[in-house]
Amino acid sequence: MTKISTIQKRDLDSIFHPMANFSELNEAGPLMVVRGEGIYLYDEHDNQYIDGLAGLWCTSLGYANEEIAETAYEQMKKLSYQHLFKDKSSVISMELAEKLKEMVPGNFSKVFFGLSGSDANDTQIKLVRYYNNVIGRPEKKKIIGRKKGYHGIASYAASATGNEMYHKGFDLPIEGFYHVDCPHYYWNAEEGESEEGYCDRLATNLENFIIKQDPKTVAAFIAEPIMGAGGVIVPPDMYFKKIHPVLKKYDILFIADEVVTGFGRTGNPFGCETFDFTPDTVTLAKSLTSAYQPLSAVMIPDFIYQAILSASKEMGIFGHGFTYSGHPVAAAVGLKVLEIYERDKIFEKASKLGVNFQEKLKSLASHPLVGEVRGKGLIGACELVRDKKQKTPFPADKAVGAYCLERMKKNGLLARAIGDAMCLCPPLISSEDEIGEIFVRYTKSLDETLDWAQRQGLLAA
Ligand SMILES: Cc1ncc(COP(=O)(O)O)c(C=O)c1O
Repeated sequence: MTKISTIQKRDLDSIFHPMANFSELNEAGPLMVVRGEGIYLYDEHDNQYIDGLAGLWCTSLGYANEEIAETAYEQMKKLSYQHLFKDKSSVISMELAEKLKEMVPGNFSKVFFGLSGSDANDTQIKLVRYYNNVIGRPEKKKIIGRKKGYHGIASYAASATGNEMYHKGFDLPIEGFYHVDCPHYYWNAEEGESEEGYCDRLATNLENFIIKQDPKTVAAFIAEPIMGAGGVIVPPDMYFKKIHPVLKKYDILFIADEVVTGFGRTGNPFGCETFDFTPDTVTLAKSLTSAYQPLSAVMIPDFIYQAILSASKEMGIFGHGFTYSGHPVAAAVGLKVLEIYERDKIFEKASKLGVNFQEKLKSLASHPLVGEVRGKGLIGACELVRDKKQKTPFPADKAVGAYCLERMKKNGLLARAIGDAMCLCPPLISSEDEIGEIFVRYTKSLDETLDWAQRQGLLAA
């Protein structure tokens, strides 16, 4: 049993941790982080860790950025709060909305601000349903997500999420939410099936599903260009090209959840550019402020806005919004972060660094534990397997990924294990040397896990 420090005990006595397994947490104790600088975090004993997952896929500009801190301080002095309800607004949130309209690919007429990826995806689904109601299609309400897709934990967003871990015990998903194939070629392709054949099959499955449901009842499809919390699942390049025409054929809106993939993560400014498709609407959060402030945005196309505008005489107010929608401090920080992305050419640099990152990741394909290496830009994962040749996973109860993650922590690297997928998503400001050091610590941890797995007799003979 791990020795729990006084600080850890105080935490366990006071915080109800999100996403925790409480018996495991009480046994191991939380990592008590005290400060951050650049891509590094320091715990209560001043041990240093590289933040290899950019917090939760969000701290693109790293920690302790003076310029961003100054911006927040100045904005707090100038205007610490202003809501956007009804006829009220603030110049700073207007400026951020204008900037997003300019940056995000697609034809958007308005931006709705929230505080998290979850509330933004709830907003998306409420918007789609409201839209169909006011244009006289009240039966067109069903939402299609994908198995392993993650869209947050508010009730609609969690219902769109395709993982029962986020449903169990909460009476979710609610009615009207469905989940189609996860586009993971490595695990799900049939023997001898090409990537193209696989994507054709998934598109056919989607079409058959829509027909079975009755296209008149299906409102929207929601997807992350690359699934983050599903385990960094990168679809084949042509996947969205095959899926999108099916949605268009049945007049089903495509919501791109760019909460992780937005703002330079995948080698392009947005994930939909990496996979070359144009969605109807886009969800943004996380790197929008590089996590210096909680902020999310929903990009609203003109046809949805016009429908809501036309209906407003009859419907009255659009009854949706948060006290902190477009909070001026978050807006000022977001604007500053976007300015830094542009001024310092962060996306271009991250794209170049991503080539180096992917090469290093690919070099681990020969490691005895690694079944699949996958990634794009500055996001990637190695999937640990029991038998590389036969593609056999480890039994889930052996918790091999969790063991490896613990080794990474001991070796000064914070990453994430999703099942046995060891995920990396470093801050975009990482240097080439820092990426090198991430892989030194990552590889050492894989080697230690291999030793342990051999000792435990977990590998195939
Ligand atoms: C793709 C995606 N959408 C939505 C969310 C939910 O965001 P939040 O945790 O800010 O509610 C996440 C969080 O990881 C995410 O990865």
